[in-house]
Amino acid sequence: MITRVQKFLPFAGLTSVLKISNLFHHTSTPAFAQRATAFYGTEMGKASDSGAQVSNPAPGFKLVGFSNFLRTNPMSDRFGVKRFHHIEFWSTDATNLARRFSWGLGMPIVAKSDLSTGNVIHASYLTRSGDLNFLFTAPYSPSIAGDLENAAATASIPSFDHSACHAFAASHGLGVRAIAIEVDDAEGAFHTSVAHGARPMSPPVTMGGSVVISEVHLYGDAVLRYVSYKNPNPNATSDPSSWFLPGFEAVDEGSSFPVDFGLRRVDHTVGNVPKLAPVVTYLKQFTGFHEFAEFTAEDVGTSESGLNSVVLASNNEMVLLPLNEPVFGTKRKSQIQTYLEHNEGPGVQHLALMSDDIFRTLREMRRRSGVGGFDFMPSPPPTYYRNVKKRAGDVLTDDQIKECEELGILVDKDDQGTLLQIFTKPLGDRPTIFIEIIQRLGCMVKDDEGKVSQKGGCGGFGKGNFSELFKSIEEYEKTLGAKRIVDPAPV
Ligand SMILES: [Fe+2]
Repeated sequence: MITRVQKFLPFAGLTSVLKISNLFHHTSTPAFAQRATAFYGTEMGKASDSGAQVSNPAPGFKLVGFSNFLRTNPMSDRFGVKRFHHIEFWSTDATNLARRFSWGLGMPIVAKSDLSTGNVIHASYLTRSGDLNFLFTAPYSPSIAGDLENAAATASIPSFDHSACHAFAASHGLGVRAIAIEVDDAEGAFHTSVAHGARPMSPPVTMGGSVVISEVHLYGDAVLRYVSYKNPNPNATSDPSSWFLPGFEAVDEGSSFPVDFGLRRVDHTVGNVPKLAPVVTYLKQFTGFHEFAEFTAEDVGTSESGLNSVVLASNNEMVLLPLNEPVFGTKRKSQIQTYLEHNEGPGVQHLALMSDDIFRTLREMRRRSGVGGFDFMPSPPPTYYRNVKKRAGDVLTDDQIKECEELGILVDKDDQGTLLQIFTKPLGDRPTIFIEIIQRLGCMVKDDEGKVSQKGGCGGFGKGNFSELFKSIEEYEKTLGAKRIVDPAPV
């Protein structure tokens, strides 16, 4: 069946959606359909209606909530920030992880740095879709490098450390080690950050005479990695040592999978921390990033939500770093607290990936859910989509709302645009890191040269979906709890 629609004007990318073969039909099961997910909770510094206790804010730091938050952009970055560059996962077997993500997200493996390229320190594989780069890294045996002269120099990620990587994997399971952002000057960004309180993790290193890379502490065992190019024109050549990092080589076609589900870039990366205030203060202080949004319990509309959130943004609002903290005293344990326990501390909770055609992305991803891809959180009930018509019927056609329902896509709006979003289940063994797929509609702006682009964060982060989404996570956690209860008691 070909779906044709007349509306959906605010965004160019979805024009291809206007004539999509309706190849996949996702049907919510009754058990799933009653619940959906969420991410943001009660106001910091005071108890919610439910009596929830919240953390003590740092001096000068207090959440005001979504409705009282006045969005301004003071253009306060301490150094030039361009965009998310790549996300690095640390694991104990990069080959299998890269292939699973490549298959599940439609991101071909495009570059490698491993024994075959002369790297005796770590195996790293890069998957790519548009400007979305995921790097998967695992250690080789230290004994391999032990007898070789200058073995450390063969590493393409200069900060890589065997024991730190092993300890990371043992403590966290699957997780994100580095959020890498492209900056104007990775050396200057490092020194400026450290001068403003950042904990140094890896001093600037110039690689191949063309790329500078440095790292500072982000939260938990995650680092914020700065990457800059001496001659920025990263896509001018097919050689990954030029457009990505020196030391990487293109993979031969046989070991890649030429697919594209429509994913284009990282939209935001979310961290879970025990206390929001010190981390927000720390990050704001050394980056200069401004507060882009806040969410509190009153915003979420459920006394069981169990979290507070702040979104930090760079000047161009292309780098968005939301942070969550748990709230205690609610009937059910905060999902953030669950994360912190299973992850053994703070870390990256989810990666929001922007698609230029979310319907295509979801059809392709759902086809692979049961065969090596990623599973999705339960879809909301049909009543949710009747309300979508009321909330976003001016932006989405009936056919598009129907397609959202078939694929389990959530819809929200803010004062500027519309957000389509959906969440996977946790990616690995533990109920920790997951992925959000989004498409933002509207907020197109033209610069002085007439170039049209979309404002960062257009359509928000799904505040209107929070209560529905949270119920879904709760439902999922209940299934984990139920399993635990039927476990045989020790005798
Ligand atoms: Fe998100």
